[in-house]
Amino acid sequence: MQENFSLQPYNTFGVEAKARYFTEVSTIDELKEALIFSKTQSLQLLFLGGGSNILLTKDFDGLAIRINLKGITEENINENQVLVTAKAGENWHEFVMYCLQKNFGGLENLSLIPGNVGTSPMQNIGAYGTEIKDVFASCKVLDLENLEVTTFNLEQCRFGYRDSIFKQEGKGRYVILEVTFTLTRKDHSIKTEYGAIKSELENLSIENPTIQDISKAVINIRQSKLPDPKEIGNAGSFFKNPTIPLAQFEDLKQQFENIQGYPNGDRVKVPAGWLIEQCGWKGKQIGNVASHKLQSLVIINATGNATGKEIFDFSTEIINSVKEKFGIELEREVNII
Ligand code: EPU
Repeated sequence: MQENFSLQPYNTFGVEAKARYFTEVSTIDELKEALIFSKTQSLQLLFLGGGSNILLTKDFDGLAIRINLKGITEENINENQVLVTAKAGENWHEFVMYCLQKNFGGLENLSLIPGNVGTSPMQNIGAYGTEIKDVFASCKVLDLENLEVTTFNLEQCRFGYRDSIFKQEGKGRYVILEVTFTLTRKDHSIKTEYGAIKSELENLSIENPTIQDISKAVINIRQSKLPDPKEIGNAGSFFKNPTIPLAQFEDLKQQFENIQGYPNGDRVKVPAGWLIEQCGWKGKQIGNVASHKLQSLVIINATGNATGKEIFDFSTEIINSVKEKFGIELEREVNII
């Protein structure tokens, strides 16, 4: 247990904020011990995974617990399917690479997403035509109400676009300990429908892609337009892509003929990056904070010296200008602490 501990290395924005207490846990028993400590001291809790989806806007007056449970196991279901379980503290991309090395298919479109396995179900991480719900089997969680370990299946997780029970009713109640995925051993389903993948495969002159080729294409696309958090502090997409009623979309189309929209039930999903760019934010910097020059949905700690508060205020300005121009209220995807 460390006191007055800097969380700067533990958040991919790289902002400075101190936790009153900090500990790292590698076993469930250590986690339980830390929880008992927080209870006896009446401390608020903050769970940290890879720190890739949080913005720390102030010091945290409680106990920050970094989940460092490690290990990957496999169980064959049949000739073509395998259940692969990774503990929460495994790095997501390394886990994807491990699966690809074994030729297990299903996660290749999710290559190079920052963060850890344990946080992947929280917001049902997704990219390039795949979300984890497509291959998710179950996850084991510790219920903070009774310190018991329970299992959530696919249905119980209630996954939606960047959403799950863990962001809704279950918020703050469960700690994800491990996640199990159903992956393919052969007969892989190759997903190339996301436009950028097709063109990248053409660039690479690949006609019949393997899952490893898809991963390579996704890595190239991400590296070409998303900043590497190791070099420039960021938390990926800062906002969700909003979904608006069809009638509102049609009205906007009258005024802004280039607006794009993807049908989503009876609503239309509009790319937030486009809305933000149209408001003149792409590449714009105020003080230490900027919108990324190649993908305006990503807010960056441009100088490395930004405070969480500055980043938050910058995001508020973006929300205000998109609201003013398009009448659409952007929702933050990143957790604000
Ligand atoms: N666009 C612009 N200007 C911009 C950015 C995007 O006009 O500055 C347009 C693009 O031209 C494109 C559309 O918006 O037509 C969509 O852009 P892109 O394919 O880059 O995807 P996105 O909707 O901006 C989402 C996810 C990303 C994920 C990509 C690829 C969300 C909030 N973000 O971004 O996820 O990598 O799709 O699937 O859904 C993340 O969550 O951290 C993340 C990076």
